[in-house]
Amino acid sequence: MPVSEARISPLDRGFIFGDGIYEVIPAYGGKLFRLDEHLRRLANNLTAVKMKPPLATEAWKQVLNEIVLRNLPIHGSEQSIYLQVTRGVAERDHGFPDSHVEPTLFIMSTPLKALPESIAREGVAAITHEDIRWKNCHIKCTSLLGNILLRQQAYDEHAVEAILIRDGEVTEGAASNLFALIDGILITPPKGPLLLPGITRDLILELAQQHNIPSCEAFITPAQLKDAEEIWLTSSTKEILPVTTLDGVAVRNGKPGKVWQQMTQHYQQYKQQLRNA
Ligand code: PDD
Repeated sequence: MPVSEARISPLDRGFIFGDGIYEVIPAYGGKLFRLDEHLRRLANNLTAVKMKPPLATEAWKQVLNEIVLRNLPIHGSEQSIYLQVTRGVAERDHGFPDSHVEPTLFIMSTPLKALPESIAREGVAAITHEDIRWKNCHIKCTSLLGNILLRQQAYDEHAVEAILIRDGEVTEGAASNLFALIDGILITPPKGPLLLPGITRDLILELAQQHNIPSCEAFITPAQLKDAEEIWLTSSTKEILPVTTLDGVAVRNGKPGKVWQQMTQHYQQYKQQLRNA
């Protein structure tokens, strides 16, 4: 149905408390990108917050593919699918509602925006900022106020993303994962409660291995980040953004780096294979 006709109760716990879990899954050539991985993360997150899964894996696949298919004539074959599950509609109370309350499921498709060509020429600016979020950042929940304030702080400083620092370590972006090239090795912080296990992040580690780009998961300090040869931000919708300005200072020569160019090619090839599959 058109989004203008969709109706959700104001008592929905997603609205009242941000009590929900979400996923963003791109589709290339009408094919959902890393669907199994996205559904696995979704299942893990629902379990983590003790929420009933509204659908089983095969049913999720059917519904999501159907939504892509129905939106082909409207949005074309490159789409971004947003889905969220909330704990349902109930009288406002912080504790969970009765077990008969069913989760609310909302799924929408929007056209996937092509990334501006200026990115490959100029890269993007990022700021660093203390992480002001809670301590369960591995859960992809709809309560995103911390992330929103951090991203807006970046926009206010004419940057596209805030790179977050907690207890002397760099963790991730407000809505992206982080990679840094340090002494020729591509490094991303290890998974744990302080960052989201990104689907794009995992693919980049896989592609690095396949193409003999030295890589590892390790902690990164703000000082190491400042000196890095390259800095990237990754997410399903923005792919791999090369950061060329950090806190107003050029990253090396201020241009997207060679390893970023290589990885972007591999990433585009991966997407093309999916379209042709
Ligand atoms: N965000 N870290 C955070 C905090 C994120 O919100 C995201 C993605 C990522 C990257 O994850 P993935 O590669 O699976 O997209 C990392 C989505 C795109 C969003 O909130 O719109």
